[in-house]
Amino acid sequence: MEENNKKKVVLSGIRSTGNLHLGNYYGALSKFLRMQDDFDCRFFIADLHALTTNPDPKQLHESVKNILAEYLAAGLDPEKNILYVQSDIPEISEMYLLLNMHVGIGELMRTASFKDKARKALGITSDSDEIEKEIIGNQTSNQRVNAGLLTYPTLMAVDILIHHADYVPVGKDQEQHLELTRRFARRFNSFYKTDYFGEPVNFNFGGEALKVPGLDGSGKMGKSEGNCIYLIDDEKTLRKKVMRAVTDEGPKTPNQLVSQPVENLFTLMDIVSGKDVTDHYRQAYADCSIRYGDMKKQLAEDILKVTLPIRERILDIRSNDEYLSKVVRNGAERARAYAADTLKDVREIMGIRKI
Ligand code: ADP
Ligand code: TRP
Repeated sequence: MEENNKKKVVLSGIRSTGNLHLGNYYGALSKFLRMQDDFDCRFFIADLHALTTNPDPKQLHESVKNILAEYLAAGLDPEKNILYVQSDIPEISEMYLLLNMHVGIGELMRTASFKDKARKALGITSDSDEIEKEIIGNQTSNQRVNAGLLTYPTLMAVDILIHHADYVPVGKDQEQHLELTRRFARRFNSFYKTDYFGEPVNFNFGGEALKVPGLDGSGKMGKSEGNCIYLIDDEKTLRKKVMRAVTDEGPKTPNQLVSQPVENLFTLMDIVSGKDVTDHYRQAYADCSIRYGDMKKQLAEDILKVTLPIRERILDIRSNDEYLSKVVRNGAERARAYAADTLKDVREIMGIRKI
């Protein structure tokens, strides 16, 4: 325990909004796996964050179990890490209320993830002024653009700060949320003239944060984009998805510029198969001998090598309710001990004391 205390604290979570896909795996989970031996790691399932988009209650519950089974199947060890469900830690909700007193509505409304989600919910494609007008003036926005969605970054900051985390392994899309976390920590410290909170950073083993592309030719792989390859996909489904990946008619002249959909395939291949394999196909592209079908077959093979063993274990663990509940009960107990300490300090710093 003594030695454990000296290790840097790592904290990360994934929302329970379905099953884990390759974006989650390479952007987040694979980093968790590589960190679990060397750091004091705490990983959780962000079910309160999932509530911001109003999931069906039954589906939410299923998703929490799925993600937990997927964490374990991918190799997260409940002995080495604290694994817990966010809503099992009531201290998080209380601290979320307290931290919100130091968070500006303006900065929340300017957050990219909020603007994206609000735009999607309202069906608008234009700039933020329009969003504000729509949100304030439009009654139908009340359910779809709720206050939980707006204060999503406060809750995420609390997840992190309640553990005094040093490192927060996440994909590139979460970096703005981390920046806000650091800003809220600094603001809290400066308002209360304390150095209570540190400033957590992303962790990428010295590399860049990853963005795993989708196979539909544009953007990132993501649940709401509907372009995911899931860890739980069976062999046939997975092969089909990869073989259907968007490409183009192929290079016509040597060293032709690579189109976005094909660049995405190269990027995914880089991540899954490694640089040597990708270099081979990049060369074939450059001299116009590339056959996209071959490249896709290779990519599917290499993805399956990673996902199939995980899939087997998911199916096994997912049916073991007793084990799953034991893991999270134990995780909650350990996580709550840390959270309660921080909440007690924060209440005191803010002047909330027993009379
Ligand atoms: P989704 O975007 O599918 O809803 P989440 O937002 O729950 O997934 O993401 C959970 C974790 O997975 C975060 O750390 C996030 O940065 C990472 N992640 C999700 N999609 C990608 C992606 N396409 N590339 C890299 N990381 C990703
Ligand atoms: N916002 C993260 C996502 O969508 C999930 C998350 C919630 C998280 N709280 C966190 C990630 C704390 C890291 C640390 O992926």
